Amino acid sequence: MVDVLFLPKRIDEKDACVVVVDVLRATSTIVTALANGARAVIPVRTVAQAKRMKKQDVLICGERQGIKPQHFDLGNSPQEYLNVADKEIVLTTTNGTKAISMVNSRRVYAAAFLNLTVISDLMRSCEKITIVCSGQDNAVALEDVLCAGALVYQSGLKKLTDAAQIALRLWKQAKRKDLSKLLAISQHGRELKKYGFSGDIEFCAQIDKYKVIPVLTKDGFVVEK
Ligand code: MLT
Repeated sequence: MVDVLFLPKRIDEKDACVVVVDVLRATSTIVTALANGARAVIPVRTVAQAKRMKKQDVLICGERQGIKPQHFDLGNSPQEYLNVADKEIVLTTTNGTKAISMVNSRRVYAAAFLNLTVISDLMRSCEKITIVCSGQDNAVALEDVLCAGALVYQSGLKKLTDAAQIALRLWKQAKRKDLSKLLAISQHGRELKKYGFSGDIEFCAQIDKYKVIPVLTKDGFVVEK
């Protein structure tokens, strides 16, 4: 059975596969960092926590209100993560890493359009799947629901909750449209544009740019082999 949560909530489902989505931009950043050789991406809740973890070969990264906090190494633009080979990334973001912190399951994955097919393929090996849309400040985010629908569509799975069917129907309506234009009209897309991050919208709209499966371990997200 596939379920979609339009907003994050506490999940305590040891045996479910949980797929967290924050297209703009946290999970797109996690996917990009791992695809470009980062050793791990460690999601943390607060800026203070991230700062305490700073050491050699560890980059502290993320955003608040879309902007890189003071003394951080990198912000939350996926395109900043193209030269991170062998680095450990500590990442804190407003919504994405918060959604991740609410999940307690043995199999937690990060998904975005950037790694759509590899995640939808692995969904077929799970009995129960919960796709968590990170949303934005407790509001549903169009880009995350579109991505959840695309994951459901691509997986071909048929046992769907009503929420999963809603996401799937949205994606079926949208899939022939220009995805970067759709992301750009979302609330978050409009805000990113205002802050000068239009390039990120186009970047995050690329389907299957990468084949990495980020899986959450005690060492953070690493590439599943
Ligand atoms: C978040 O986690 O809230 C987002 O990734 C924010 C952003 O666009 O940087």
